Order: sequence, then structure tokens, then C-alpha cells
Amino acid sequence: MSLGKIIGQKNKDLSKRIDKQKVPEHVAIIMDGNGRWATKKGLPRSFGHKKGVSVLKEILKAAKKLGCKVITVYAFSTENWTRPTKEVDFLINLFSEVLKKEIEEIHEESTKIKFIGDLTPFPENLKEIISNSEALTKNNNKFLFNVCVNYGGRQEIVKVAKELALKSSSGEIEPHEVNEELFNSALLTHGTKDPELLIRTSGEKRISNFLLWQLAYSEIYISDVLWPDFNEFEFLKAIIDYQSRSRRFGGIESLPNESFEDSQLSS
Ligand code: IPE
Ligand code: IPE
Ligand code: MG
Repeated sequence: MSLGKIIGQKNKDLSKRIDKQKVPEHVAIIMDGNGRWATKKGLPRSFGHKKGVSVLKEILKAAKKLGCKVITVYAFSTENWTRPTKEVDFLINLFSEVLKKEIEEIHEESTKIKFIGDLTPFPENLKEIISNSEALTKNNNKFLFNVCVNYGGRQEIVKVAKELALKSSSGEIEPHEVNEELFNSALLTHGTKDPELLIRTSGEKRISNFLLWQLAYSEIYISDVLWPDFNEFEFLKAIIDYQSRSRRFGGIESLPNESFEDSQLSS
């Protein structure tokens, strides 16, 4: 049997363990570890970023196959500008190249692509490719692919706070009208359900300023695998782990035939 067939069989076996009724609708991913992957191989960091793109394609396919509806990836953070100019320029160029190459296929699959973050500092050619891609796919409704670029969770929250403060000072809203729902509707992710699952690769156990508001109750799965080595099999493992969690949202798991009063108070 060829290697491809063996891998395909392994993935099939694993996906049989997945409860199709409980697949997360929205998965957020911190694709981390590109640089370390390349360095380990004695290659420039850029090789890791390039390999990371093909992994992303595989994961998008796997997520669609499984029945997920939204994938949100962290591609460039507001803090990533502190990297050497050469690496930042490489990444910006990579975004343009990949988008130009992949947008037709994305569109054919009826995927809507949305860029989340402050696009202002990016070069005009990238901004143009982004706005064309968003316009082309805006009516697609099979799958939503959010790409966070120059994104920071704190910056997003401050932006919303400013907008609401302005609306309040101009009399458009009353201060007492500010609530979670209104705040949520002004976020860059408005209209999209919060992620049920966050995956971070490369073993780092932090959020790094990603979707601070939206991740409030997401399940977190940390994979030790570096992003360029991540694959469908590892993604399915994350989903299986997610399905084993008990999501309580601050409550308690219901115990059949027993109430809190019965078990704790009545004696
Ligand atoms: C993630 O990989 C990609 C981006 C942040 C753009 P890194 O580039 O952070 O790789 P490591 O963490 O240095 O290995
Ligand atoms: C988070 O990874 C940002 C992206 C994946 C785009 P980083 O590598 O920038 O995060 P830190 O520096 O480890 O927190
Ligand atoms: Mg990193």
C-alpha cells in the first residue's frame, strides 16, 4: 500500500471515532512553530512559513469534510511587526502570492474569505488583492474562512470601546444601552458564532492577543506538533479531544435523579 493510502486509512479510522452531531462549528487556530520547524532543519525561517501554507490548505479541506462551518486563523499579529523587516516583508509577500494563487479555488468551493484586522499599514497591492477576494466571495455560504492579519485582541476591544463612546457622545446611543450584545455586534467578527474550539500548535500555552473576547468560553487544545508538521490526523485528534470535554459554562453537569438540595442540603 502506498504511503498516501496508509495515511488516508489512518485518517478514516480516526474520523470514525468522531461524533458527527457534535462537530464544532467554528474552530480558531494559532498556527505557531513555522520558524522553529525550519531552524530545526537548518533552513531559513521562510521555509517554515511556506510549508505552513500547504498545511493550512489541508486543514481547511479536513474541516470542511468534517462539517465545520468556520475556520479562523491567526496569520499575523499586531506584535509580529517587531520581527526583522526581512521576515515581515516575506510574510506580506507570501500573503499576496498565496491569495492570488488560491482565490479561484476558494471561490469555486463556495467559501467566503474575510480578513480580520487593521489592514491600513499593508502595501496597496495586498490591500487590493484582499478587497477583490472578499468582494468575489462575499455571497458564498458553504464555509467561512477568516484570516486574522495585523490583528490584536486588545486593539479590537479598544476599537469597539471607542466606537461606542463616540456613538454615546453624539447621542446615537445611551450609555446604559452598552451591553454584551451591542459590544459583540461591533467586533470585527460580528455575525459569527464564537469559536467552540481553539487549537494552538507548537506547544506554547498562551493566547498571544488572539480573539480575547471571542475565546471567553472556547475549549483550548494545545498540540506539541509544529504547524508545518500539523496535518489532518492531528486535526482529527483535536476534534476527538474536544468531544471528550464537558462544557459547563459555569454551571454543573446535571446528575440524573438527584438535585443539589437532595444530595447536599436535606441531611
Ligand atoms: C507562526 O510561526 C507564524 C507567524 C507568527 C507568522 P512562527 O513564525 O511564530 O514560528 P516560531 O514560533 O518562531 O517557531
Ligand atoms: C502568534 O504567534 C501569532 C501568529 C501565529 C500569527 P507568535 O509566535 O507571534 O506568538 P508568541 O510570540 O509566541 O506569543
Ligand atoms: Mg511563534
